[in-house]
Amino acid sequence: MYLTEQELQSHLSSPSFRLVSEAADELGLEAYVIGGYVRDIFLNRHSKDIDIVAVGSGIELAKAVARKLGKRATLSVFKNFGTAQVKAGDLELEFVGARRESYSHDSRKPIVEDGTLEDDQNRRDFTINALALCLNKDRYGELIDPFGGLDDMEDLIIRTPLDPDITFSDDPLRMMRAVRFATQLGFFIDPDTFDAIIRNRERISIISKERIVDELNKIMLSPKPSIGFELLDKSGLLPLIFPELCALKGVEMIEGIGHKDNFAHTLLVLDQLSRTTDNLWLRWSAIFHDIGKPATKRFDPRLGWTFHSHNFIGEKMIPAIFRRMKLPMNEKMKYVQKMVSLHMRPIVLADEGVTDSAIRRLLFDAGDDIDDLMLLCEADITSKNPDKVRRFLENFRLVRSKLAEIEEKDRVRNFQPPVSGEEIMRTFGLPPSRPVGTLKESIKNAILDGVIPNEYEAARQYMLQKAAKMGLAPVGQTC
Ligand code: CTP
Repeated sequence: MYLTEQELQSHLSSPSFRLVSEAADELGLEAYVIGGYVRDIFLNRHSKDIDIVAVGSGIELAKAVARKLGKRATLSVFKNFGTAQVKAGDLELEFVGARRESYSHDSRKPIVEDGTLEDDQNRRDFTINALALCLNKDRYGELIDPFGGLDDMEDLIIRTPLDPDITFSDDPLRMMRAVRFATQLGFFIDPDTFDAIIRNRERISIISKERIVDELNKIMLSPKPSIGFELLDKSGLLPLIFPELCALKGVEMIEGIGHKDNFAHTLLVLDQLSRTTDNLWLRWSAIFHDIGKPATKRFDPRLGWTFHSHNFIGEKMIPAIFRRMKLPMNEKMKYVQKMVSLHMRPIVLADEGVTDSAIRRLLFDAGDDIDDLMLLCEADITSKNPDKVRRFLENFRLVRSKLAEIEEKDRVRNFQPPVSGEEIMRTFGLPPSRPVGTLKESIKNAILDGVIPNEYEAARQYMLQKAAKMGLAPVGQTC
């Protein structure tokens, strides 16, 4: 974790840092690399954004650096914010003057004044994000770590530099960031910092949904996302941002029979799935897969606890939740809905025997998402009984090999019935109407059930027979 001055200098050996150094010395300014970039040097992570703080005008420093880079540099100045950006190829440098900030109670917008490096470090969110490395020639690579950020990194601690009530009240998004960093890095939130999150949790209401969901996505993409959801739950933030997930918590007992805690189960499914995929929307599907359970929970004296149709109810609940949380209301949402609605199908198949017809229907309904669905279903096995787990996984292997076999033979994935609605209308001289839909559906079912092959001639013959039974004759013929 601890690096020598020489090692630190080697991390600052790129020509761009040398240019900033020269420009700062020429302007007589102190300049520092600060924040996430410095943290990530110590954590051995790749960091793209480079934030530079100047004690003085960040904009002047950016202009001087852009001049030195010449034609290949683009300079953007954001006068209102006192910031500037220099881009050259892959390089992206953000400049700002050291500042002191004070906040009013009901807004995230601070009153900003010029300040010292220390003022600037004071206003940052966590000790590990407040580290600065000097770029001036005579102090090149000197680390300024006023709050013990390096020790906290060594001890895996997320802690605010100042009184956490002030840091979180100033910018409540930082509560989500604390949880996110703990999840991404596998760190622990310091108890005083965590207690302040509990006390300030209601302030999350002044943060935009988009920013909250950005943090949730980062939690979701972490190696073990359950860490984040458990911290959100323990801090009391979860009911404020995702109450439907909280509703999965708890175990009810009737006549000595309990059901599993669906919150714990959901998080376990999410973690298991996260070991096999980094597809963000498949991971969201895991979070949502049992969201319909509380609404469908019943106790049946013969069967015990049941959650009939929780997959369909869950599918229906998703648009309102996506809208409220500002998750995307597009094909990503449709994909999550599809996964939730279909997540019971492979289990039922594995349980009740694998017929060709059921496999064809599953392939037809899942289309190209069939492999993702299988990953979700395999992650959904969370039994503690190793025999049971082995049996389920064995059955899933059977389902998978049947899926491959049927797909190879019948090509029903993304299948379009070989006789179109237009052809049906043309053949029988029908306007768009119910009989057209009935005929189309019956051709599809005949193919999926294996009554006829997935071929044009067979489908046309089948259509003619079926139509005759319905009293329909092709144009020009009488029945
Ligand atoms: N920062 C802060 N409070 C915030 C956001 C950012 O104090 N709400 C400070 C931190 O010092 C942080 C720096 O601004 O390190 C840069 O913020 P950002 O680029 O959002 O985050 P990083 O820490 O770089 O991490 P990541 O890129 O993973 O978001």
